[in-house]
Amino acid sequence: MSLVRLVYFSRNRLDASRGALADRVTEILSASVANNQRADISGGLVFSAEWFAQVLEGDRIAVVETFARIQRDARHGDVSTIECRLADTRRFGFWWMAAAGWSPQNAALFRQYCGSETFTPCRLDGDAACDLIAAVLHHQMNTPAQSTAPHWLSAWRNPDAKTAAPRSRIVTAA
Ligand SMILES: Cc1cc2nc3c(=O)[nH]c(=O)nc-3n(C[C@H](O)[C@H](O)[C@H](O)COP(=O)(O)O)c2cc1C
Repeated sequence: MSLVRLVYFSRNRLDASRGALADRVTEILSASVANNQRADISGGLVFSAEWFAQVLEGDRIAVVETFARIQRDARHGDVSTIECRLADTRRFGFWWMAAAGWSPQNAALFRQYCGSETFTPCRLDGDAACDLIAAVLHHQMNTPAQSTAPHWLSAWRNPDAKTAAPRSRIVTAA
């Protein structure tokens, strides 16, 4: 198998009101997890009301086929590939897919990687996009529950990761 990692960003065309956005992302995640599990694709997704950035990793053919479906999806648009390259190991092997949204609680991470507290993925190269997605997902996984917590949903690919991350949790409410 040739392992590849593909990173892209796109414009969010989902309903931007907060509760609705969380529900719509949950729908995307449900289908993604089922499909990615079948295709042995791992990855992560970060979103705001304006943007998505996603990393997909797995066998080259499986990733190309999945990305072709994703590009046709009307729930987002202006899909721009940041990078697609061969990888030695999976960086997001914990999850079939996990998603977290921008929030005031994690805005500092966006400032660190995007140069502003808003999510501006067009400024990111492949490494920075992967670093941001990993940082936001790990921050969310380890943040105690708050009423203002951003949307967070994951499905573990590696069950050991659950015990390796003692404060991890799965929350689907926005
Ligand atoms: C931002 C975004 C990310 C998505 N990520 C994935 C993904 O990781 N895997 C996947 O199979 N589908 C993903 N989808 C959904 C696909 O576009 C498509 O709707 C789905 O794969 C169709 O699956 P189905 O034929 O089983 O209904 C994503 C869609 C959007 C808008």
